[in-house]
Amino acid sequence: MKKLITAILFLLPVSAFAAGGGNFYPNEPANIDLSDKTSLQNGAKLYVNYCLGCHSMEYVRYSRIAQDLELTEEQTVNNLILGDQRFGDTLDKSMNSEQAQKKYFGVDPLDLSLVARVRGEDWVYNYLRSFYVDSSRPFGVNNTVFPQVGMPHILADLQGLQAKSDALLSVEEQIAEAKAVLNDSEASDEAKAEAKEKQHRAEVEMAKLAAQGNMFVQIEEGQMTPEEYDESIRDLTAFMAYTANPVKLESKRMGVWVLMFLFVLLILAYFLKKEFWKDVH
Ligand code: HEC
Repeated sequence: MKKLITAILFLLPVSAFAAGGGNFYPNEPANIDLSDKTSLQNGAKLYVNYCLGCHSMEYVRYSRIAQDLELTEEQTVNNLILGDQRFGDTLDKSMNSEQAQKKYFGVDPLDLSLVARVRGEDWVYNYLRSFYVDSSRPFGVNNTVFPQVGMPHILADLQGLQAKSDALLSVEEQIAEAKAVLNDSEASDEAKAEAKEKQHRAEVEMAKLAAQGNMFVQIEEGQMTPEEYDESIRDLTAFMAYTANPVKLESKRMGVWVLMFLFVLLILAYFLKKEFWKDVH
């Protein structure tokens, strides 16, 4: 029996730990929970209120969201559908592309149906938490995850405003200095080796700052505390992860039933085996 259980445990699918692609900072894991319907519903609400003005979701219909997130048609119409859209419509943005291109310096905000799959959930989660004040930019903000971003900080009233911390500025300066030496064709090999070492040290320091949450300092409070804001962004990211892969909800549900079925089968098989061997001894 023990052997059988060990064999079954081995066969159970081990969820693969996806290696994080690219290096962006901060890089905290999003830790979303697609089985948490309240979180997804909250994410949907934030999305239609704050993002749909510019970003459509062409592959997603309100009616499908209602079904997957366990909302009635009435709840959906009252809470998610703004303007004159209908229950069966896809999530169209309110601004047309031409307006958007004029207003946003030639970049047309993307359709976000699939963004969590294209960029990755962690990227999206950290992107929405990493706007910082930068007066040289058209909207007064920049982003460490998406440098020179063309999107304003839409959620500033919730998050408040943050600036780069002194520690981050100093690390960035060291990286810039090291890079300058590495790109200098007249620098000696020795100087380059030293610069490489310096760059490496600074990058380790950067990862440390990110892990400690020390990249930014709050300079203006928002309606939410930092914890509440992170939680909301987690919900919003969860909603985008769901739209990027709607069948995931279903396959998860089905997976649970499959495992339960296998378990019942295991118990039956065990008693059957006992029954067969009873007379042999
Ligand atoms: C005022 C218009 C506007 C609103 C509202 C807006 N965005 Fe954006 N967003 C943009 C623009 C413009 C870009 C393109 C930025 C660039 O390419 O520099 C962008 C880019 C993005 C990207 C990166 C896409 C990619 O892969 O390059 C994500 C993710 C995103 N927005 C998410 C959101 C979310 C989530 C919300 C709601 C909280 C939101 N946006 C609200 C204008 C907007």
